[in-house]
Amino acid sequence: MRYLLGLDIGTSGTKTALFDEDGKTIQTATYGYELFQPQVGWAEQDPEDWWKACVKGIKDVIEKSGVQASDIKGIGLSGQMHGLVLVDKDHNVIRKSIIWCDQRTEKECDYMTKVIGAKRLIKITGNPALTGFTLSKLLWVRNNEPNNFEKIYKVLLPKDYIRFKLTDVFATEVSDASGMQMLDINTRNWSEELLNDLNIDKNILPNVYESVVVSGHVTEAAAKLTKLQVNTPVVGGAGDQAAGAIGNGIVSEGIISTVIGTSGVVFAATDTPRFDEKGRVHTLCHAVPNKWHIMGVTQGAGLSLNWFKRTFCAKEVEESDKTKVNIYDILTKKASKSKPGSNGIIYLPYLMGERTPHIDPNVKGAFLGVSLINNHDDFVRSILEGVSFSLKNCLDIIENMNVNISEIRVSGGGAESDVWRQILADIFQHSLTTVKASEGGALGVAILAGVGAGIYESVEDACNRIVKGKEKVNPNTDLKDLYSKIYETYNSAYPRIKDI
Ligand code: XUL
Repeated sequence: MRYLLGLDIGTSGTKTALFDEDGKTIQTATYGYELFQPQVGWAEQDPEDWWKACVKGIKDVIEKSGVQASDIKGIGLSGQMHGLVLVDKDHNVIRKSIIWCDQRTEKECDYMTKVIGAKRLIKITGNPALTGFTLSKLLWVRNNEPNNFEKIYKVLLPKDYIRFKLTDVFATEVSDASGMQMLDINTRNWSEELLNDLNIDKNILPNVYESVVVSGHVTEAAAKLTKLQVNTPVVGGAGDQAAGAIGNGIVSEGIISTVIGTSGVVFAATDTPRFDEKGRVHTLCHAVPNKWHIMGVTQGAGLSLNWFKRTFCAKEVEESDKTKVNIYDILTKKASKSKPGSNGIIYLPYLMGERTPHIDPNVKGAFLGVSLINNHDDFVRSILEGVSFSLKNCLDIIENMNVNISEIRVSGGGAESDVWRQILADIFQHSLTTVKASEGGALGVAILAGVGAGIYESVEDACNRIVKGKEKVNPNTDLKDLYSKIYETYNSAYPRIKDI
């Protein structure tokens, strides 16, 4: 049997998963790390923490599975997108990575829009200037840390730093590179015109490949640390959203997906690059050759529930520790004890600003409509509902871009909860299918590795062979009127609170 390894360098931890060539999960390991928040709205991580988590994870899955390293035919890398990793000429990391949800770069975004022009920026990069994307973070370092900027030899994304540690090669691939906002997503190559206008040296960027292409091979040093076989091929891989989409079989127009991870995403594959002229959803290259995708992003999806748990749920956390019942099962069960509409509470999930439908790094979250009748259960439910309303905002925009929707697939940690899945179906008033692919992103890049290693003919073929076993959640149509009324109120809230 041949095996494929997928790594997903996420925000809360790195998941390493080993699959056989039929896509069956053989072994997984997850190691977490810290998120540093030196100021409100800032978010940083240490790339060395990611690497340590990868080394431990790879070693674990090889040792525990008993699979011979020589039977692992390819490695795919996925991970949190947009993070800025700066490496100096000696290949050392210059400063902590400024990651995707960091919101410090509003000034740099204004500058980018002024120099490039709002429409031109969308035409070239698929997106308006975004605080979350890598380019504005790079410009922030140029403006605020000139000494660090001087030292830059290469600018990498999180998973591409891991590629460098595994292979000694500086490279990226089109799906993640699209989120750097320096790629011309039409030609799927770095945009010389944009780089020239912003006075950025193209040499600091790594080579960019299609996602299925082998970009390098495991070095002796990395093999020693990880127990991988020297020379195992490492393919381009994909940003976490494109990777997750492949793991869910979202590789052609018609089937779209909704992910409730740390962030929340509604994702559709397209045959041509398609833009929202207001830039409220992102247009990026897909990890499937000659395909693109659009996606709407809610900054604080699972992040909201995780924050609530850390801040207001000491009792439930204690119960979880005692009973060994997963804390999120405890919380979503509480949500089911409240009512649709959370007894009047509306939660706005803007803990780290927002991207879709409001491009606003400064807006803050809120609980509205709180009264004396409300209890803890209502607050938990309002979070599940508020995040779902925000995802409905993403869905509405995508529907208005003439994307055919024959099926919506749901995945991500949040979607593992029956309660949250049902709330989402009720708010969307659309049935949702769940695919048996709990390792989503890691499976997606293992598929890409399999294509690169010649095991599968194409990404589409591999998905047909591997992505199976769907369960359906149907919406409760009795809740249609109630939820559409609350959705209207939810939508009316942003313009009223945005300047507070
Ligand atoms: C996508 C995005 C998130 C991060 C973290 O644009 O910002 O998916 O990659 O998961």
